[in-house]
Amino acid sequence: MKKVFILCLISFATQAQSSWFEKARFGMFIHWGLYSAAEGMWKGENLRYRNNYAEWIRYRNRISKEEYGELAKRFDWENINPEEWVLLAKKSGMKYIIMTSKHHDGVALWDTKVGNYSLPNLSGSGRDVLKELAAACKKHDMKLGFYYSHWIDWEHPYAWDHNQEIKGRVTDEQFNQYWQEKAIPQLRELLTNYGDIAIMWFDMWIPYEKSIFKKEQLEQAANLIRELQPNCLINSRLGLPADTKYVDFQTLGDNVFGSQYITHPWETPGTIAHSWGYNGQEKEWKSSAQLFKSLIGNVSLNGGYTLNIGPRADGSLSWESVSRLEDLGKWLGHYGQAVYNNTGVGLRPNQHDWGKITKSGNEVYLHVFNWPLDQTLRVSGITSTPKSAQLLLENGKTRELTLEQWGPLMHIKVPKRPADGYNSIIKLEFDDISLDKNIAAESTFGGFALNASNLLNAGNFTIKKYDGTRPERIITAAEPLQWEVYLPEEGTYKIDVSAHNPSAHPLAIEIKVGDTVLKGTLNPDGKVVVEPNEKNYTDEFTDRNLGKITLKTPGKNKVEFRVAGNRELWLNRIWMEKQ
Ligand code: GLC
Repeated sequence: MKKVFILCLISFATQAQSSWFEKARFGMFIHWGLYSAAEGMWKGENLRYRNNYAEWIRYRNRISKEEYGELAKRFDWENINPEEWVLLAKKSGMKYIIMTSKHHDGVALWDTKVGNYSLPNLSGSGRDVLKELAAACKKHDMKLGFYYSHWIDWEHPYAWDHNQEIKGRVTDEQFNQYWQEKAIPQLRELLTNYGDIAIMWFDMWIPYEKSIFKKEQLEQAANLIRELQPNCLINSRLGLPADTKYVDFQTLGDNVFGSQYITHPWETPGTIAHSWGYNGQEKEWKSSAQLFKSLIGNVSLNGGYTLNIGPRADGSLSWESVSRLEDLGKWLGHYGQAVYNNTGVGLRPNQHDWGKITKSGNEVYLHVFNWPLDQTLRVSGITSTPKSAQLLLENGKTRELTLEQWGPLMHIKVPKRPADGYNSIIKLEFDDISLDKNIAAESTFGGFALNASNLLNAGNFTIKKYDGTRPERIITAAEPLQWEVYLPEEGTYKIDVSAHNPSAHPLAIEIKVGDTVLKGTLNPDGKVVVEPNEKNYTDEFTDRNLGKITLKTPGKNKVEFRVAGNRELWLNRIWMEKQ
């Protein structure tokens, strides 16, 4: 009995531990190290391999340890001031900072006593930037986390280096030597000398079973963290599964954003450009609008965003980074209530073509990226009636909006112009929120698109994703396809079908809406040219009008689609629109 009680306390403590992280939603990642001084170039040559990361330059451009160490001499210590990074994070609305303490190059940014391959030592500056950063974080009430490359380390001869795939692996004993003599003692330093560490962020993107690691080694690191910093969170790239007691939150792939609602804590680590470390040749800066959409998309699926910047070797940041962060910070300053401490409502992801929905308690926030030209914002899936609907304005004021509601469909009357150039927020307040998760959402253009993403039934058919030329399609089989739509009024609805008939014969099809049936015939479809002069053709998906149905049963209706004789048809979507 006693045992059970203790166990409950432990799991509760773990949840409470990560709750700040789930409220924070937005943090800063900083990649800064010797590679920052190379700026993506080595001896007049660009970073090798197209699209690679600048912080990988030592490995990619095959630089010797000694020459690489010389990069430390390029740092301009007069200008380097980690407090400025903290102030920038604050101004940008970020709630935590994760700093690369040791990246794959194996160079410690702090004054480590484990060997002498550290920035203070190689540069001769004697400065411990992690100490300075920790002090600034404390001063400005910013949570601090450390990135530590535990798996790859190009300095230690017995750590992991990808070249071991062809040049021969280190033995388990050798790897353990690296682990016990470098990684573990360095982790101990980081967890002992820098005050409260909110996150230890590891970086192995394959499960440990596929790596040289033994489970016990990873557990050793996790236990050390639990012992020295009981409140510190550990990310899943430690290499252990996200649901074990050693992992507190899941880290998705680099720049991989959420595609479904995940109930446990999770984040996307993402770059503001392409590289993580500073690259003077960088060409791929993400726009502020894109960064907004990434952040809010994740929050709407219960996740967070750790956005990376790569300062230069003098500590400064490029204008591209600063200007984007300022855009985000300014917006969050006005509308942060729609992001911090928010989660998703739990409707299908991506069902609204105008933007995303988040919520905090009984307050629902509609993030309208694409303002409707007809001044009607269509929201589908919420069945309870809001007490109020308000457009949030930049000056802190609000504007009351009116709305109409039919079951799970809501039409909000909005002004002609959006309140914000990036993302306008409409706040709905409820007593309680009830949902209809099944119905197909109404499009901004007023009709309903029934497709693979809002199908009601699972069944004996397959769904093929968009592959660059052919649209997403459902390959029909024996069972009928089913959707649920809410049609507010009696009347005539036009029905169009976009499909490809791959056979040599006409196919008879049938669409049933409630009790009304519409029949049609789809002739064989041929090819369509993708690019001129390249003999580049793909299967044509023809859009055909099947006619009209007269609906006498308003409200929720089931739509069924079947192909006579259970023959194969590639269905892209059905479009229903009131006449
Ligand atoms: C990858 C890269 C690394 C970067 C990290 C951040 O694992 O190897 O350079 O630090 O992603 O997510």
